[in-house]
Amino acid sequence: MKRLDGRVAVVTGGARGIGAAVARLLAAEGAAVVVADVLEAEGRSLVAQLGGRSRFQPLDVSSEDGWQRAAAETERELGPVSVLVNNAGIMEWGTMEEQSLASFRRVVDVNLQGAWLGMRALAPSLRRAGGGVIVNMSSLAGLIAYAGIGAYAAAKWGLRGLTKTAALELAPDGVRVCSVHPGAIRTAMTAGFDDSYTAGQPLPRFGEPEEVARMVLFVVTDATYSTGVEFVLDGGVLAGPPAVLNPAEQGPE
Ligand SMILES: NC(=O)c1ccc[n+]([C@@H]2O[C@H](COP(=O)([O-])OP(=O)(O)OC[C@H]3O[C@@H](n4cnc5c(N)ncnc54)[C@H](O)[C@@H]3O)[C@@H](O)[C@H]2O)c1
Repeated sequence: MKRLDGRVAVVTGGARGIGAAVARLLAAEGAAVVVADVLEAEGRSLVAQLGGRSRFQPLDVSSEDGWQRAAAETERELGPVSVLVNNAGIMEWGTMEEQSLASFRRVVDVNLQGAWLGMRALAPSLRRAGGGVIVNMSSLAGLIAYAGIGAYAAAKWGLRGLTKTAALELAPDGVRVCSVHPGAIRTAMTAGFDDSYTAGQPLPRFGEPEEVARMVLFVVTDATYSTGVEFVLDGGVLAGPPAVLNPAEQGPE
């Protein structure tokens, strides 16, 4: 008996990167996984590898109609959903003065509005399933700020607040809602970053999508007394700046 046998899980942005790793792990634990993404070819190819009852759902998470269709089709094909991973995300660069309003809105529409729409669309299904778990993929940028990604940080901080609200509202229905906050993970989103980006971290390397997937699985299956809280995997960044063991060795200023 696997830990997620008989469960239905929806993973947005599941076609590649962190979402694909989450989809693989949840499927390996027995769940029927709905890979929901705008990347149809990648999504369908992953689902073919997952086998079982897993299916691909074309979905732009920023579309309310899209979510209504996804919720109805999923429940018709697989039954009620008890795990929702709102993972779809995009990052667009630009300081406050550089970034266009259209870019700001795109980032918020996918990263924040997308998760809000997803929770609204699937909350009735989670209730019909008798309860479940929602995992919202925030970021280290939802806990601290980085210059040049204001819209992304705003969306990821917002997602953290939304997670706590949803946790309070859905607790009576047996639904836990938590956020996961990865630091630098090696995916297409960080393709332009070289190893120097993580060199100053206590754990001086990029994280792997599979490490995030294991955290998501932990939240879903083991963190049964946790809701409305943050699960962080950041290579130690939040612990503080790089250690200075003996200031005298640093030499004169
Ligand atoms: N890679 C990192 O360092 C990192 C760090 C912290 C948080 N995250 C978050 O993790 C999540 C996954 O990112 P990733 O690193 O795997 O990036 P990625 O670009 O490889 O994957 C993102 C996925 O989301 C999908 N997507 C984008 N817009 C969508 C939309 N409108 N509707 C449906 N699907 C859409 C993409 O097609 C893609 O499959 C994102 O929310 C990202 O913000 C990533």
